[in-house]
Amino acid sequence: MTAKTTPLRELPADLDRERLPRHVAAIMDGNGRWAKSRGLPRIMGHQRGVDALKNLLRCCDDWGVKALTAYAFSTENWGRPLEEVDFLMTLFERVLRQQLQEMMAENVRIRFVGNLKTLPASLQAEIDRSMEMTAENSGIEFTVATNYGGRQEILEACRSIATQVRDGKLQPEDIDEALFKRHLYTANIGDPDLLIRTSGEMRISNFLLWQVAYAELYVTETLWPDFDRAEFHRALSAYQKRDRRFGKV
Ligand code: IPE
Ligand code: IPE
Ligand code: MG
Repeated sequence: MTAKTTPLRELPADLDRERLPRHVAAIMDGNGRWAKSRGLPRIMGHQRGVDALKNLLRCCDDWGVKALTAYAFSTENWGRPLEEVDFLMTLFERVLRQQLQEMMAENVRIRFVGNLKTLPASLQAEIDRSMEMTAENSGIEFTVATNYGGRQEILEACRSIATQVRDGKLQPEDIDEALFKRHLYTANIGDPDLLIRTSGEMRISNFLLWQVAYAELYVTETLWPDFDRAEFHRALSAYQKRDRRFGKV
């Protein structure tokens, strides 16, 4: 994330700074198809996908979006060929190690959500280190969903609440939305205002099931490695045309 002095860093003039989404979430899909269409192995798509994510993070920071959450690996993605899974785990670890200094310099606070305990130990160590080191940073909140599943997250929350009830620390009538939210991986992270999915698929794929209850959805045919500032600009323009009613009239 090196500083650039081009006008690209400024919020496009047609966007209203007051009506930006505070929190953007992204289902980064289409890496494999991007590679395939170029006759490359799927892993090359993942490699390029990292660049697209770095660029989006910088763009959010430049334009005044306060939080970005990216879906990097789902609980279902373990079902892919071992070679691809191994590549992704190694890629996450390498990128994290390489980017930590830059994230510190840019005041980024990074967090990971998901079932982190079953990730490779060396990746867990990098994750812990990056979260600890950036914990006091006051800039953009960057959350990476890794080995994340929305259903599993809800089940884990239920288990932990049930344990508290069993132990007499909590009454069933105390369970409300605010309490439930505190038991999710995203306890300290607000809900997304805008959810972007690339590669044209019209589905959630087990991402932030509880949290996207009132997010605006934006799907683009663009494949993730091609998702650039111009694409993000289009997504924000579409978002600003939406009428967020939250069930009211
Ligand atoms: C998204 O791209 C990245 C991950 C799920 C890790 P895909 O790998 O799903 O790409 P497609 O959908 O096969 O094109
Ligand atoms: C969703 O993409 C998961 C991530 C982007 C990490 P998938 O490619 O796994 O989703 P499906 O299989 O098309 O639903
Ligand atoms: Mg996919």
